[in-house]
Amino acid sequence: MKPMTLRLTPVSFLISLALVPSSFAYAQDEGQGLDPRSEQYTKKFPKQYKSWKKTTDYSDKVDEVAENPNLVILWAGYAFSRDYTRARGHQYAVTDLRETLRTGSPDEKQPDMMPMACWSCKGPDVPRMIAEQGEDGFFSGKWSKGGSEIVNTIGCQDCHEPGSSKLRMARPFAERAMESIGLKWDDASRKDKQAMVCGQCHVEYYFEGKNKKAKFPWDNGVKADQAEAYFDSINFTDWTHQLSKTPMLKAQHPDYETWSQGIHGQNNVTCIDCHMPKIVNEQGRKYTDHRVGNPFDRFEQTCASCHEQTKEQLQDIVAQRTAKINELKVNAETQLVHAHYETAAVLAAGATDAEVHDIQQDIRHAQWRWDHATASHGIAMHNPDEALRVLGTAIDRAANARIKLARLLSSKGVKQPVAIPEISTKAKAQAAIGLDMDKLNTEKAQFIEKVIPQWDEEAKLREAKYDNN
Ligand code: HEC
Ligand code: HEC
Ligand code: HEC
Ligand code: HEC
Repeated sequence: MKPMTLRLTPVSFLISLALVPSSFAYAQDEGQGLDPRSEQYTKKFPKQYKSWKKTTDYSDKVDEVAENPNLVILWAGYAFSRDYTRARGHQYAVTDLRETLRTGSPDEKQPDMMPMACWSCKGPDVPRMIAEQGEDGFFSGKWSKGGSEIVNTIGCQDCHEPGSSKLRMARPFAERAMESIGLKWDDASRKDKQAMVCGQCHVEYYFEGKNKKAKFPWDNGVKADQAEAYFDSINFTDWTHQLSKTPMLKAQHPDYETWSQGIHGQNNVTCIDCHMPKIVNEQGRKYTDHRVGNPFDRFEQTCASCHEQTKEQLQDIVAQRTAKINELKVNAETQLVHAHYETAAVLAAGATDAEVHDIQQDIRHAQWRWDHATASHGIAMHNPDEALRVLGTAIDRAANARIKLARLLSSKGVKQPVAIPEISTKAKAQAAIGLDMDKLNTEKAQFIEKVIPQWDEEAKLREAKYDNN
């Protein structure tokens, strides 16, 4: 592609000089105590508060599974096969976690499925609870324990010291992970800090130990291959695949990791430069736009502060990269769907664990790599080269699995090609793996109608004590 033309005066840099953060710093505690509610800043920081509220602009709920029914098969045996919607505005984080079929419908009669750790990246009640109960206290117990506690969506105190504009990392497990890759908060540069606050949540993580504490798999480094080697070394498995019985890994959203190795990350262009630009209001006052969303919606303040191309030109580049990534992505998915069904067939024909071991390892690695490269939807912008490289290795490993499968299938006398059931729509694919969606949907609807209002009521009573301070 043609070289990028950069403006000689990076406007964002000049603006950032005008906004020395310490000039905004307030005393640590002006009576807010542990009150996590972002509403308390309506008057103190009205511009930031109003723009933060505006992440409601990003309300579209995209059903990824309906758009791509292959996902149901890839995640068979795991709750993602029931429901997976694309990330949307920060205002919806708590609502969406409550409403997804993945968290089920816990009540007295039904076993709870998710650990407390699922709340880890949903809002400032998390640092509040950790301050009150310690990390062990916070992480112990099941998801429903947090129902009446984690009620405030991603807000000021996730990224700022209480009562202040000073940035902070509000999660000790994230701080430890950053330190393990050489980023100590107190010594980090302002630019590093801007990205680190996002990197508390926009990362790959897993739940370790008896208490299911959140940990980032970065002991070997942040790349897909390094995290894979780490997971293998500790024998970590997210779930066992329903069809191929493979010990699987699920990638979350490694935005921070992939961005950091990309051209913008390498040039110290952070999440903030594109997703939270400095803007000037009608009174001529500069402030950070807290409406985190699509950078192309504020093109003049984001890309155009450094690049000379038009919005159309740059959008076209991103679209071309998305198309290339999608081509490999679909290829990897198709190979993996076949590999899962072929492994199921060979197991049904009596293949032993030892005989399928290497095949399952190939499938595990192929799907991890596919997921790592595509689970983060900004990848075409953040690091397209890495996405293509990792997807290439995913296809390689899936192909290796299928070569071994072809041999093993014939040695067991199984007729090839192995048939794939009708999985062309979400409903058909879910039926193919035996999911009772009517039951899941009905139970969830009852849970939303009955339990959520109770959680909100309890939270209101609990939070009323802050108003008396
Ligand atoms: C997801 C992280 C995040 C959240 C949530 C967040 N902020 Fe910020 N905030 C930032 C970043 C990043 C900056 C820019 C820091 C810099 O320039 O180095 C910032 C800057 C600020 C500043 C300094 C002045 C300015 O505009 O640059 C204030 C004041 C502020 N935020 C208030 C708030 C308030 C009030 C809320 C909640 C309503 C909030 N922030 C929520 C990340 C966040
Ligand atoms: C406390 C955890 C947390 C922090 C901190 C955080 N995010 Fe998020 N972010 C989320 C979650 C959770 C979602 C998905 C919300 C949903 O879909 O309901 C999300 C969604 C998003 C989206 C998708 C919005 C859309 O319209 O598609 C973008 C972009 C994003 N975050 C960028 C950032 C940036 C940039 C930062 C740092 C300034 C940041 N986030 C900090 C947790 C966080
Ligand atoms: C704060 C400055 C800054 C901002 C904001 C910024 N960029 Fe860049 N961009 C850079 C720098 C620096 C490079 C590396 C230039 C080089 O080495 O040739 C770059 C490189 C690029 C490249 C070419 C490199 C590649 O192959 O990926 C593209 C395309 C690009 N940017 C698109 C965008 C888009 C789209 C936006 C807005 C969403 C954006 N940039 C926002 C500074 C910025
Ligand atoms: C150079 C600009 C740039 C930088 C730096 C950048 N992003 Fe993005 N990001 C974008 C653009 C543009 C998109 C939308 C891409 C598209 O339309 O395909 C995006 C998409 C996303 C999405 C997906 C939103 C969705 O639709 O689901 C998330 C989440 C996200 N970014 C988070 C981050 C985080 C976290 C960082 C820092 C670790 C970061 N971004 C750094 C430009 C940037």
